Amino acid sequence: MQIAKFGVEDWLNVWENDAVYDIAGSSIASMTLEEIIDLSKITKEEFTNELFAKKMNYGWIEGSPEFKDEVCKLYKNIKPNQVLQTNGATGANFLAIFGLIEPNDHVISMYPTYQQLVDIPRALGANVDLWNIQEENEWLPSLDDLRKLIKPNTKMICINNANNPTGSLMDELYLKELVEIANSVGAYVLCDEVYKPFIKDINIPSIVDLYDKGIATNSLSKTYSVAGVRVGWVVANDEVSNIYRKIRDYTMICAGVFDDYLATLVLKNKEAILKRNEKIVLENLEIVKEWLKKEPLVSLKIPNNVSTSFIKINIPNPNDIEDMCIDLLKEKGVLLVPGNRFDMPGYARLGYCTHKETLEKGLAELSNYLRKYDK
Ligand SMILES: Cc1ncc(COP(=O)(O)O)c(C=O)c1O
Repeated sequence: MQIAKFGVEDWLNVWENDAVYDIAGSSIASMTLEEIIDLSKITKEEFTNELFAKKMNYGWIEGSPEFKDEVCKLYKNIKPNQVLQTNGATGANFLAIFGLIEPNDHVISMYPTYQQLVDIPRALGANVDLWNIQEENEWLPSLDDLRKLIKPNTKMICINNANNPTGSLMDELYLKELVEIANSVGAYVLCDEVYKPFIKDINIPSIVDLYDKGIATNSLSKTYSVAGVRVGWVVANDEVSNIYRKIRDYTMICAGVFDDYLATLVLKNKEAILKRNEKIVLENLEIVKEWLKKEPLVSLKIPNNVSTSFIKINIPNPNDIEDMCIDLLKEKGVLLVPGNRFDMPGYARLGYCTHKETLEKGLAELSNYLRKYDK
């Protein structure tokens, strides 16, 4: 199978460990196991007792009933049978596309976005039309463009809500219009919802609560701050879930007894964890806004409390962005993701939801570095 190199992952694989100030990641500041337990309604002793008593067999193949119940609570009307546990959202996206897409299918993918949503269908032989996001449209793609791209045989529309790297957000009205367009030809809508906002005032529905042919993927990596647990899930209607169930047996047996247990614990205690994370998002966004006022070479469409953002860096040649990011890392220890890894030279992904001191120092060092471009 021919498949393109995964731009962002390839960049992070090479450079992440060299960072002193990693402000490239899109997760909300990760937690230690101790922090998770402290935020949970369980003592360390109870946690270890429960864990030590567990048999390290395969456990529940599709995810434990407790895990599935917790996932169902995130949606309006989803039954446990419609939930399949996966190896992160990466595994969920792979399954969601691999299970439905065949050579010559027509697929429309939001672009740029998490590269899986574009390059897996391509690798499977689908004809993929790119549905471009537009900076002047708050980094959303235009629904009129979607109407032009859709065909009677469109099999799937792939979106990422909120979007990596920009943090742009499709609201309910927008999603309903999108569903209407998809439904006019019976296309599936796959929505990667790992950045779905959780802040009280922002109410964004899941695609599976809006559309029978909606497929939602998600995980504990981003808004729940536990990427290390490697647990995600895919939710779809019964028919599609059964297709995925069959294929899943070929790709994984289970996510692991420990991972399932910890993932369930996190979901059971999501109120406390999301409260912690809301504080980080809101406080760090203020830090970024203040920094932008003082940094003449950078501009940003402020994300709506989503944990990823895409800054525009005004360097003489936008195509130099990757070299600039390497130089910045070597000189100042600051890691960004250069925009060319998303096909957008001149920009960079700023993961502002890291630990506060890292963000503050990272932005200060970025500004120090950028002074070499002052005229
Ligand atoms: C949109 C999107 N989906 C999926 C993933 C991968 O998530 P996971 O760690 O759950 O595999 C990422 C990671 O950056 C992402 O940005």
